[in-house]
Amino acid sequence: MKCTIQTLQKYKNKQKITMITAYDALMARIFDGEVDSILVGDSLAMSFGGQPDTLPLTIDDMIYHTKAVRRVVHDSLLITDMPFGSYDTPQEALKNATRLYKEAGTDAIKLEGGLERYEHVRHLANNGIAVMAHIGLKPQFVRSEGGYKIKGKTEIEKIHLLHEVQEFSEAGAFAILLEGVVAETAAVIAQASSVPVIGIGSGANVDGQVLVWSDAFGFFTDFQPKFVRRYLDGANLLKEALQRYVNDVKNGTFPSENESY
Ligand code: KIV
Repeated sequence: MKCTIQTLQKYKNKQKITMITAYDALMARIFDGEVDSILVGDSLAMSFGGQPDTLPLTIDDMIYHTKAVRRVVHDSLLITDMPFGSYDTPQEALKNATRLYKEAGTDAIKLEGGLERYEHVRHLANNGIAVMAHIGLKPQFVRSEGGYKIKGKTEIEKIHLLHEVQEFSEAGAFAILLEGVVAETAAVIAQASSVPVIGIGSGANVDGQVLVWSDAFGFFTDFQPKFVRRYLDGANLLKEALQRYVNDVKNGTFPSENESY
């Protein structure tokens, strides 16, 4: 059954929400219906594109990848990240979110930011775009903040985050993505929020969890953040299989008669 933003909202305080990233039809076909939501995250720049951070992505990149995922995702709620530089003003945000709706067929968009994005979220929501606000550690700010900094360590930061959640839900955000926030603060935020709070690296006491698929399944091995649990040793399994293929070709046992016409 198709998961909608209303489904996610109904799950708050009843059952945990599950979300994973996907960037192509191959993976998305496997994930569809197994998780509540699939995110075409801008993490694709790093895990798929080999970039050092998420900033180089363009709206055309996101449209291309969302189209691929959309072709095979029927049951999970499909959310697409607005890439860095594609939502500098509320008007630009609406123009590019509308492209993601019309050209790529996404169900909702996610954007990063603090209260400087209040008007952006309001403008999008008022024009029929389902918006998720991404707060806490915001990877698109990695260059201006000089690294990936865990948030919510002090009382002031906690109050600030609480204020952001309240303002964004008032502006019309249907959910919040909370990244890299200390677990105690994240729990307080999730409890105070009227909309679902989906965490990554923010502890267990939030309304749901999201992971980057290539981290969760061990395909991205450059580094492993503390919050990632590896459910598969993907890169090593694939390398072993590849090695068997290479050996079979080298020693002439592939293809066999059965594998020939
Ligand atoms: O781009 C991404 O993959 C994200 C993660 C926080 C899930 O936004």
